[in-house]
Amino acid sequence: MPFFTQDLRNARKSLEQYRAHAASPHHERYSFPFFCGTYFSYRRIDVRRTVAIARAVGENPSYLDVGCGYGDFLKRVREFLPDAEGMEKDAGIFYGLGIEKPGYIAVSDAHWISKRYDVIFVGWMEPGQDYRDPVAKNTDVIITTLDQGISLAAEFDGHGFERVARWRTPSWEDVNIEIMNRHYTKMGEQKRAELAKMRGAHNLWYVYARPRVAGRVREALKAHIAREDPDDRYDFEVVLDECGFGYMQKLENPAVPEPLWQVSFD
Ligand SMILES: C[S@@+](CC[C@H](N)C(=O)[O-])C[C@H]1O[C@@H](n2cnc3c(N)ncnc32)[C@H](O)[C@@H]1O
Repeated sequence: MPFFTQDLRNARKSLEQYRAHAASPHHERYSFPFFCGTYFSYRRIDVRRTVAIARAVGENPSYLDVGCGYGDFLKRVREFLPDAEGMEKDAGIFYGLGIEKPGYIAVSDAHWISKRYDVIFVGWMEPGQDYRDPVAKNTDVIITTLDQGISLAAEFDGHGFERVARWRTPSWEDVNIEIMNRHYTKMGEQKRAELAKMRGAHNLWYVYARPRVAGRVREALKAHIAREDPDDRYDFEVVLDECGFGYMQKLENPAVPEPLWQVSFD
C-alpha cells in the first residue's frame, strides 16, 4: 500500500472538508484512520492489556511497535512504558501529514530490526507485507492485530510461538460504517436499525509467546483481566458505545460469536 505525498495531500484536504462538517470531533479517527487513528479500534483497556503483557516479561520491558504509522497507539502505550519505540517504513507519512516525526519512531524497514525487544507489537500488517521472520527473531512476545479475512500472514504459530490469548474489537471500517449510517446518510430509522443488526467486528488481537515465557504471560494477563476497569477510558470511546460496539457487547451477527473485548485463553 505505497502512499505518495500527493495522495496524502489530497486525502488531507478531504479530512479538512470532513472536519468542517463533522457531527463529532471523535469521528475522524474512524473515518481517517491513517491520519488520526488506527486501523484497529481500541479502548484504554486494550492499551492496559498490552502494557500488562509487556510487564509480564520485565519490570521495565523494551517494546517496539512495528509499522506504527504516525504512532497513535504507540503514544498511548508510552504513557505507561515511556521508552517504547516505533518503527515505520514510510517517512512520507510525516511529511505528507505536515507533522514532525517523534524521535522515538525510527524510519526503517521491519526487515532491519537490529536489536531484541521484550515485546513487539504488530498492528495491522497490511496485505502483501510479511515481516514475521524478523519480528519472531527479535522477541519472545508478540501482540498482533489482524483484520479477519483481509490480513494474511499475521500468525506466528509456525515461528516457534504459542498463541496465548485472543480477543476481538471492531476495525476502523466496522465503526466507520455505523458512523456513516447514523450521522452522514439520509435513511429511515427502521432501515438503520436493520443494517445495524449486520454490524461486524473483524479485528482480532492475538498474543503470542515463546513456550518458555507463555505461562508467565498467560498468568499475568489473567490477573490483569480480573481487575480490569472498563470505566477507565478515553473520551473517544463514546463513539464505540453509541455505535453499538460496547465493552462485552454481543453482536447479532453470527460471524461474531463472542462478546467484544472478551479475552479467550488458548
Ligand atoms: C495498515 S498500516 C497500520 C498502521 C498502524 N499500525 C495502525 O494500525 O494504524 C501499516 C503500516 O505499516 C507500514 N509498513 C509496511 N511495511 C512495512 C515494513 N516492511 N516495515 C515497517 N513498516 C511497514 C506502512 O507504511 C503502514 O504505516
